[in-house]
Amino acid sequence: VAGAASGTLTTVPVAVVTGATGGIGRWIALGLAQAGHDVVLVGRSQHRGDDTLAWIAARAPGARLEFYVADLASLAATRLVAERIVVRAPAIDVLVNNAGVFCTRREETPEGHERVIAVNHLAPFVLTRALLPALSSAPRARIVNIGSSTSDRARIDPADLAGKRRWGMVHAYSQSKLALMMATFGWALRLHGTSITANVVHPGLVATGLVRASGVVGWVWRGMAPFVLTAEQGADTPLHVALSAEFAGISGSYVKRRRVVPPNRRALDAGLVEQVWRATEALVGF
Ligand SMILES: NC(=O)c1ccc[n+]([C@@H]2O[C@H](COP(=O)([O-])OP(=O)(O)OC[C@H]3O[C@@H](n4cnc5c(N)ncnc54)[C@H](OP(=O)(O)O)[C@@H]3O)[C@@H](O)[C@H]2O)c1
Repeated sequence: VAGAASGTLTTVPVAVVTGATGGIGRWIALGLAQAGHDVVLVGRSQHRGDDTLAWIAARAPGARLEFYVADLASLAATRLVAERIVVRAPAIDVLVNNAGVFCTRREETPEGHERVIAVNHLAPFVLTRALLPALSSAPRARIVNIGSSTSDRARIDPADLAGKRRWGMVHAYSQSKLALMMATFGWALRLHGTSITANVVHPGLVATGLVRASGVVGWVWRGMAPFVLTAEQGADTPLHVALSAEFAGISGSYVKRRRVVPPNRRALDAGLVEQVWRATEALVGF
């Protein structure tokens, strides 16, 4: 983990965006900077971080930006970056858990977690938990988790979030996004009556580098690019949920195209949501 600068960010609202070095996240970070936030960007490459800081600075002159390197496939690195962020930003107004991966093969991280669930679900869970005191210190705070419509018909097995018994590229991704949705609803429930809201957003089908496969899967993904949303368009709904007055009091919702929509019915099953919450706590070691 590498960071920047000293002192604290306190004068204007502060936003934290993960996976901000490319795709939709870069545009979300830009939108938050243009809306007057100090933006803390998290990514896993210093080089891409520097490039993104320059890209945003050119479009949002005067924005205060900081970049922290952390590989969010590692829960240790996720905890460490959270510790470093709260030193700099004791009050956080917006947290966008955007970093995500789609893998074509099952891989385990050095910590022994399946990579897709680690990046897409466990890291946001750990980061959110670690940043809660800072989110509570802002007058009002919003957690915006970037989910996916692939969760809409997904199934989930709380006993097999890591896909040890069953793993397929689409199942692993959609299950991780359903788990993220359930955690979002779990946070909303636990934070009810506080100054913090939590919502999950589908950004649309967006031409980004999400699918980094060669072969047919990569070919199909890249072939769709001219017919789907641009990354800038994909940032629209996340930014709307993060910034608009309309979403100031809305929590525990699933949002597509700026509208609250019904989620997968499994995400409304309180017993199943609780099982996924407990399985997640066990995986991250709480
Ligand atoms: N594109 C779509 O159609 C679509 C649809 C629904 C949901 N989403 C979701 O939208 C979010 C953004 O994805 P995208 O489409 O913009 O894809 P993307 O272009 O691949 O961007 C993903 C971002 O996450 C970062 N990231 C990946 N693994 C990381 C790790 N281990 N540690 C830290 N950062 C990591 C990437 O950093 P690097 O540059 O270092 O790889 C990149 O900045 C994801 O959660 C994705 O699941 C996308």
